[in-house]
Amino acid sequence: MASQTETGPGSTAPEHRISKRIAAVSPSATLAVDAKAKALQALGENVIGFGAGEPDFPTPEHIVEAAVVACRDPKTHKYTPTGGLPALREALVEKTRRDSGLEVTPSQILVTNGGKHAIANAFAVLCDPGDEVLVPAPYWTTYPESIALAGGVPVVIPTDESSEFRVSVAELEAARTEKTKVLLFVSPSNPTGSVYPRQEIEAIGQWAVDHGIWVVTDEIYEHLTYDGVEHHSMPVVVPELVDRCIVVNGVAKTYAMTGWRVGWLIGPTDVVTAATNLQSHETSNVANVSQRAALAAVAGDLTAAEAMREAFDRRRRTIHTMLNEIDGVSCIEPKGAFYAFPSVKGLIGREFRGRRPASSAELAELAIDEAKVAVVPGEAFGAPGYFRMSYALGDENLVEGVTRLSKLFGEAS
Ligand SMILES: Cc1ncc(COP(=O)(O)O)c(C=O)c1O
Repeated sequence: MASQTETGPGSTAPEHRISKRIAAVSPSATLAVDAKAKALQALGENVIGFGAGEPDFPTPEHIVEAAVVACRDPKTHKYTPTGGLPALREALVEKTRRDSGLEVTPSQILVTNGGKHAIANAFAVLCDPGDEVLVPAPYWTTYPESIALAGGVPVVIPTDESSEFRVSVAELEAARTEKTKVLLFVSPSNPTGSVYPRQEIEAIGQWAVDHGIWVVTDEIYEHLTYDGVEHHSMPVVVPELVDRCIVVNGVAKTYAMTGWRVGWLIGPTDVVTAATNLQSHETSNVANVSQRAALAAVAGDLTAAEAMREAFDRRRRTIHTMLNEIDGVSCIEPKGAFYAFPSVKGLIGREFRGRRPASSAELAELAIDEAKVAVVPGEAFGAPGYFRMSYALGDENLVEGVTRLSKLFGEAS
């Protein structure tokens, strides 16, 4: 503890209250946009939010019902093993076989507090100080923070529309150094909605195998693909990778269960054992009731998920068409997840209602102030010049929100 003379009252030295490691963490920009939108709504403003990365649907009834039953069962009022309810891990083995064709055992699965926690655990287990992790951009805002917190060094690799925001082996190879330990891979992608075709996944997975690089592959949007595009799991496409691969997944997006906080990681047994040890001191098990709800979700069929996917698909086509009709905006067609990632570079520097936004961040401020439309600026994803717009909101709100943007941006001078 610092002595009073160094940092106490009367001292001129700055007080060292928050550790440097944690002080360096930025707040989640996506949650911040959502919070601003909700705060304005609470003041009675009619704000349309494209910020939140969560389905607007309620959790399907049979899942909620399983949780209600679980709540009444005193067994559910107790701890479970840190790694998760045995029945849930068994069900995840089946689910993984059904949905991706990957064969795993329960000892290769750790149930976590959402996919986010699985990601934090994965990097905590893999990274020593200075280990480099390749992160293609635009990236989901949590990845670099999670890597840095684990002592790793995120190495950002920019991509753009010319490759539909997909990284190539040549770009990965150019960024590889002797310190490269891990590649972060996500398909379908948040924030771009890109989905990698099988042959690109194969090439990237093979490149990782050839160089002894680990892959953390985030499959949380596995069921949200459109236009016949299919999701492929990297360790299935490249089986030699299995010993150096961690799969991240969760119930949040497929089953509209963001608030229940259940995710999981799948990996080699030594990694899963290490992550379970870590979690046993951090959070212990995921809430027992939530695990029982997740069990009902993953053990059931995908009927409800398919109905939501169809709604997202309809909204995807609407937002893609409408955005491209705005002068100064261009948007590639997203093939997965529930995000559009339009370029707004053509609007930057123009004047709107006496303001001249100089960045996508300033343009997003203008959108919420003047049109009461919340979007997340590309700066949050390492990609200035873009907006991320979630289309997981009602059809009418979606049309109203983009119409408002169109009117505002149409006033350019
Ligand atoms: C790509 C990606 N991975 C993981 C997550 C984490 O989801 P959760 O922690 O809610 O399970 C999200 C949530 O936005 C995401 O977009």
